[in-house]
Amino acid sequence: MRVLVTRRWPEAVERALGERFEVILNDTDKPLSQAELAAAMGEFDVLAPTVSDCIDADVIGGGDRVKLIANYGVGFDHIDLAAAKAKGIAVSNTPGVLTDATADLALTLILMAARRAGEGERELRSGQWTGWRPTHLIGSALRGKVLGVVGFGRIGVATAERAKHGFGMTIAYYARGPKPEAEALDAEFCAELEDLLGKSDFVSLHVPGGGDTANLIDAAALAAMKPGSYLINTARGGVVDHDALADALKSGHLAGAGLDVYPHEPQVPEALLDLENVVLLPHLGSANAETREAMGMRALANIEAFAKGGDLPDPVA
Ligand code: DGY
Repeated sequence: MRVLVTRRWPEAVERALGERFEVILNDTDKPLSQAELAAAMGEFDVLAPTVSDCIDADVIGGGDRVKLIANYGVGFDHIDLAAAKAKGIAVSNTPGVLTDATADLALTLILMAARRAGEGERELRSGQWTGWRPTHLIGSALRGKVLGVVGFGRIGVATAERAKHGFGMTIAYYARGPKPEAEALDAEFCAELEDLLGKSDFVSLHVPGGGDTANLIDAAALAAMKPGSYLINTARGGVVDHDALADALKSGHLAGAGLDVYPHEPQVPEALLDLENVVLLPHLGSANAETREAMGMRALANIEAFAKGGDLPDPVA
């Protein structure tokens, strides 16, 4: 079975894959072009892409050999599922193994935004720091503040647990319906997004990307947020209207924001780059060694199941 891995994966996973299959690795780690991805559809049995690849209908239509798209990552809004389904191509992802890492990063952003850590580091490195003073770079406390979690799946819940048990925050959440995990967190269910936005001091986004959630946080949603509150996004860039976010940060309606994801990565919306009150990270949600290896092993488990003709452990949709 021929497998194409589109980017460098952790060494242990590349080795394990190589021991089991005929694998073509991407030693340069340069993203493949759309034409190269399309050509691969006719040359391999399994395509193993990741979030930086756009597996659209044109790519999927590029050939008839691939029968499994084994995504390295939990999010799959970069894959045209309808086009895959129409060609009888299975799609798998890597859920569960990046929950803690992503929740840790959401807390990193909450803390960095609340305590103005990026501003402080920039000031210090540029030689502008003049020393300690009572009024210098004053941020916000977390204890007693409301964290509004949008999307109460695995990562949303893990973020809420950290915020509540680690930092004494109160939790509210917006989801399709009340969730059993909310009870242990004493978390308040909000049936309306606007209700959640209006009562939260920090809003953290944990919904999948794609059609339903595109621009969920638009100008009207931002206006509904509490004055002086913070927006945190570790989900997908397309969930937020970044021009409207820049306006809300400039006007001071929002005190700050922390972002790890952008609509057209690696481009970062120009309007945000000059703002001091936004923390901008380069899609680091799952970036720790243990998690990245676990993601690869999970992708490998799906490829192995496919090779044996069994059920995929992590089928998508
Ligand atoms: C995913 O798995 O979808 C993440 O965004 C990568 O960290």
